[in-house]
Amino acid sequence: MAEPVLELRGVSKRYGEAVAVDEVSLTVERGEFLTILGPSGCGKTTVLRLIAGFEQPSAGEIVLEGRSMAGVPPERRAVNTVFQSYALFPHMNVFDNVAFGLRMRGFAPTEVRRRVLDALRLVHLEDLATRMVDRLSGGQQQRVAIARAVVNEPAVLLLDEPLSALDYRLRKRMQIELKHLQRSLGITFVLVTHDQEEAFSMSDRVAVMNQGRIAQLDTPTAIYETPANLFVARFVGEINVLPGVVVGCVEHMTHVEVEGRVIPLSTPPGCWQVGNKVHVLLRPEDLRVETLRDLDEDPELRASFGRVPALLGVVEETVYKGATYDVILRLDSGTMLTATEFFNEDDETVYFRPGDRVAVTWVQGWETVLAYAP
Ligand SMILES: Nc1ncnc2c1ncn2[C@@H]1O[C@H](COP(=O)(O)OP(=O)(O)O)[C@@H](O)[C@H]1O
Ligand SMILES: [Mg+2]
Repeated sequence: MAEPVLELRGVSKRYGEAVAVDEVSLTVERGEFLTILGPSGCGKTTVLRLIAGFEQPSAGEIVLEGRSMAGVPPERRAVNTVFQSYALFPHMNVFDNVAFGLRMRGFAPTEVRRRVLDALRLVHLEDLATRMVDRLSGGQQQRVAIARAVVNEPAVLLLDEPLSALDYRLRKRMQIELKHLQRSLGITFVLVTHDQEEAFSMSDRVAVMNQGRIAQLDTPTAIYETPANLFVARFVGEINVLPGVVVGCVEHMTHVEVEGRVIPLSTPPGCWQVGNKVHVLLRPEDLRVETLRDLDEDPELRASFGRVPALLGVVEETVYKGATYDVILRLDSGTMLTATEFFNEDDETVYFRPGDRVAVTWVQGWETVLAYAP
């Protein structure tokens, strides 16, 4: 079994009346890339500051490499932080910024040189070793900050929104580089971001935070495909939320009335009872939209459409997205749905237009069913 390098056990942080971090528990495996994802103000930075030792928990315990960190000052913890602002020394050159921590710890000059040059090579800055850091671009400063942290070979590297100051293209490139760097170093990364794409593209697991608590901790795929609650469902990507009520339960099959139609859903047995109110969640890209131009008068054909009984409606709007387009439609009940469709280069007649009568279906099992919460 993988060995945990870092554990948070019921960690809370209060500032007066305000609760910034609320009973957070999590375990990070050695070599793992874990991302804490959540909206501004949800407590992400506070979690990192608690791990680094810049803040003390109001309750709970932080364990690093099997040792409680209670009372251990930041400089005695085997972690390094890459701050949002980089916090470089502007009056020093690249080499001296990266060497600073090693020199403070009394490493011999030859060892300092070897380690610094290794770290600079990792972030492709070996040619800029003598450049003053205030003469570097944002992306280069970012790399110095990373080199300065990894040169100490910490057990855990903490990164607080490390890419947020970079423009879109550089951010995309740095995401891939960071992931490569993490793999080649084998260092555990705990990264904080409010950017879902960033979290998903780099991480082994993602902890979604909301109001000081962990709303879900799982792999990116599990978080996207089976969100544990409405907050997570809505925070990661777009999703359609349809209210429904359970009208039948037989073993692995639950029948839910949604938008006036009874739809069979695959759910674990014992999950639901007749009368339970639920939310049926559907990602736009999981919906299939079919035109009903000729089929409108044929209820039987209509009912056999797709793999679950079709919901019927009218296209209100289409939104061009480049590789895909969104079809915004109003179901006959009045509920609005968004479906994402691919362009068909060979057949332009299949594009939907406002006013089209359509049927919406999906593959049974692609939906997520949650208990109704207002
Ligand atoms: N030193 C502090 N004193 C008082 N409140 C704070 C302090 N640091 C953070 N907070 C509050 O704690 C909450 C979480 O902040 P933070 O961890 O910075 O969130 P995030 O990084 O997710 O944006 C916010 O409501 C913030 O105002
Ligand atoms: Mg923050």
